[in-house]
Amino acid sequence: MSVSNGPISSVGTLADERVIVLDFGSQYAQLIARRVREQHVYCEIVRHNISIAAIEQRKPSAIILSGGPNSVYEKGAPKCDPAIFKLGIPILGICYGMQLISESLGGKVTHSPAREYGRSRLKIGNMADLFAGFPHEIDVWMSHGDQVSNLSDEFEPLASTSTCPFAAVSHKSLPVYGLQFHPEVTHTSLGGTLIHNFLYNIAGCEGRWHLSNFVTQTIEHIRKIVGKNRVICGLSGGVDSSVTAALLYKAIGSQLSCILVDNGLLRKDEQTAVITEFTKHFKADLHVVDGEALFMNALAGISEPQEKRRRIGHAFIECFKAEAAKIKDAKFLAQGTLYPDVIESGAAPDGPAATIKLHHNVGGLPEELGFELIEPLRDLFKDEVRRLGAELGLPEALVWRHPFPGPGLAVRCLGEITREKLAVLREADEIVVSEIKNAGLYRQTSQAFAVLLPVQSVGVMGDARTYENAVAVRCVNTDDFMTADWSHLPYDLLARISTRIINEVRGVNRVCYDISSKPPATIEWE
Ligand code: XMP
Repeated sequence: MSVSNGPISSVGTLADERVIVLDFGSQYAQLIARRVREQHVYCEIVRHNISIAAIEQRKPSAIILSGGPNSVYEKGAPKCDPAIFKLGIPILGICYGMQLISESLGGKVTHSPAREYGRSRLKIGNMADLFAGFPHEIDVWMSHGDQVSNLSDEFEPLASTSTCPFAAVSHKSLPVYGLQFHPEVTHTSLGGTLIHNFLYNIAGCEGRWHLSNFVTQTIEHIRKIVGKNRVICGLSGGVDSSVTAALLYKAIGSQLSCILVDNGLLRKDEQTAVITEFTKHFKADLHVVDGEALFMNALAGISEPQEKRRRIGHAFIECFKAEAAKIKDAKFLAQGTLYPDVIESGAAPDGPAATIKLHHNVGGLPEELGFELIEPLRDLFKDEVRRLGAELGLPEALVWRHPFPGPGLAVRCLGEITREKLAVLREADEIVVSEIKNAGLYRQTSQAFAVLLPVQSVGVMGDARTYENAVAVRCVNTDDFMTADWSHLPYDLLARISTRIINEVRGVNRVCYDISSKPPATIEWE
């Protein structure tokens, strides 16, 4: 049996009102899609050069052209089929998208004399449609080196900033609009309202994208496809796999079997916590595999990060495969793949060009397992998955759990892994997370953890000299985990974390706080 490339997902195929975002390489394309969905309209990201036939097949209510790093007048700059403007479908171009619209329809784009990055004051001259209900001035977020210098007569300016005369424009006879600023970023005040106005006032959307509909539709869809067969779901205790399991459980109940592989790289008491949560919420069949010895053998003597990941990936497949073979009559394998994974792996049909995160493929089980894939979350963003989890009745502690990487503590225990080092790391990590929770900052931070460094340093404890390990504390804030800022935690909290780790964790005499952003650093240390 081969793995199906047509995974079960409901909304992508069933959404009856949708907007498409043509991605010209913008760092904000996903953010645009999320903002549209926040307005209850399903939105997907597609390649900038998608064919007209593929657009028409999707029957979009509106099209958004994203920003991008190129200049429209450069040779080889990404373009869309100009026939798109003749479809009669409302179009909103943002930044590069706006410049492309202008250039395609008779205007001129040049390098602007004053580049604008950051906040600007927008003066609105036309308060109809797009700016309905707006004040005359708002703050907007700009990030451009080029701008429209000559507007064709076919267009009308709607708003300007002190250096950008055409900061918002509309076509006089086509439903085509352009914005030089970014309504999708939170720094633009009323950005959500602007997107709402475009969707509802201009594109006539009705707002039919609701998670409750998603649940009903997906459950029906799963039942139809699965029939009387059994589905296996890998469980990690993270929000994605838990929501996948919850959705499947609701759809097919006792036909669901879950497998939890304990790779010996979990956090303190994690296995017990996952089992307790699981048994509290589901009556489904649960298989717990104790893979600790297998993983530790596979990792012995290995310190190169990618090799560690590769070996963990193989060991995981070995454990999972052996356990899955014990489950009779299973035909499907469920995975908690999310929309950003689909986009970033380049697997979306007509999706934007791949920017593959090679090291994030640990959960991807190979074809050799011989199941058909079910990926019910494959059209959802993380925040939607969390809301879905809450809607399905999962506890808040699970729904708001920080992400934990597939290779677990192995990528936070730098260099060679030993049981002793993992034990030290577990204790330190538990202190970091519990102190952040106690300070009421867990929900406000995106990921917080300890890293055990392969460094020893001199200290003094009591009257004795010590020569022990250093621990780094990493805590970040991020929307999408592709870029991240280090969290500006209060000093007294950092002091408490440091004192507790040094006092309570044997073998650690120094704690550092990681103040690097991503990029150029990554969130994990390996
Ligand atoms: P980086 O370190 O690339 O991490 O900035 C971004 C996000 O991905 C998680 N991460 C992983 N998740 N397998 C996973 O399942 C991995 O190998 C892996 N590496 C990083 C990381 O925790 C963060 O949320």
